[in-house]
Amino acid sequence: MNGSRDVQWPPRPTALAQQLLAEVLQEGDLVIDATAGNGHDTEFLAARVGATGRVLAFDVQAAAIGAARARVETAGWRERVVFYEESHARLAFRAEPGSVAVVMFNLGYLPGHDHQRTTCAESTLEGLAGAVGVLKPGGVLTVVCYPGHPEGAREVEAVEAWLAGLTESGWRVARYGAIGTRRPAPFLLLGWAPGG
Ligand SMILES: C[S@@+](CC[C@H](N)C(=O)[O-])C[C@H]1O[C@@H](n2cnc3c(N)ncnc32)[C@H](O)[C@@H]1O
Repeated sequence: MNGSRDVQWPPRPTALAQQLLAEVLQEGDLVIDATAGNGHDTEFLAARVGATGRVLAFDVQAAAIGAARARVETAGWRERVVFYEESHARLAFRAEPGSVAVVMFNLGYLPGHDHQRTTCAESTLEGLAGAVGVLKPGGVLTVVCYPGHPEGAREVEAVEAWLAGLTESGWRVARYGAIGTRRPAPFLLLGWAPGG
């Protein structure tokens, strides 16, 4: 059986995040894509929350917002998504405290664009703090991390330490990723809010 497995199995962190969230997302949920990029997660979330749900999608780059918007339009779900061309550091201003079921972050840069326009530790930590504030009891936070480049390494170290600290307030936090790779491999951090 091993030999017949697709090269993307075991799943990459981005795919694993979606697989895990597919188990908790429900029709009608309010959810957030904190890094819309090319819109793969935005599209996934829009599919899952259905016509009665809403996705709030953030990105600082007009090119990313345009690409993500085009993707959900093609899928026929444009009315399910509200786009914000602004930093996820502001997401707490866009949703009520305790109203959001899921927040997804996929750190790093927009593939095919300026690699300098990458997420960075300071605004990511602000965004994560905002996410914790808007998530409802039992809500889920996912963060795909890329430690393979210098800014990424600095960022994910700060993010991992920050998320680990949430356990003191009753959160459950997990890390999933490949080991034994030549360069530090991308990994997924998942936080589950208490009270669900
Ligand atoms: C790895 S890409 C996201 C890929 C996306 N999830 C997808 O499915 O295509 C990271 C994105 O984060 C965006 N970004 C960087 N800093 C940001 C910030 N402070 N707030 C929101 N988005 C940011 C970048 O412009 C880039 O599009």
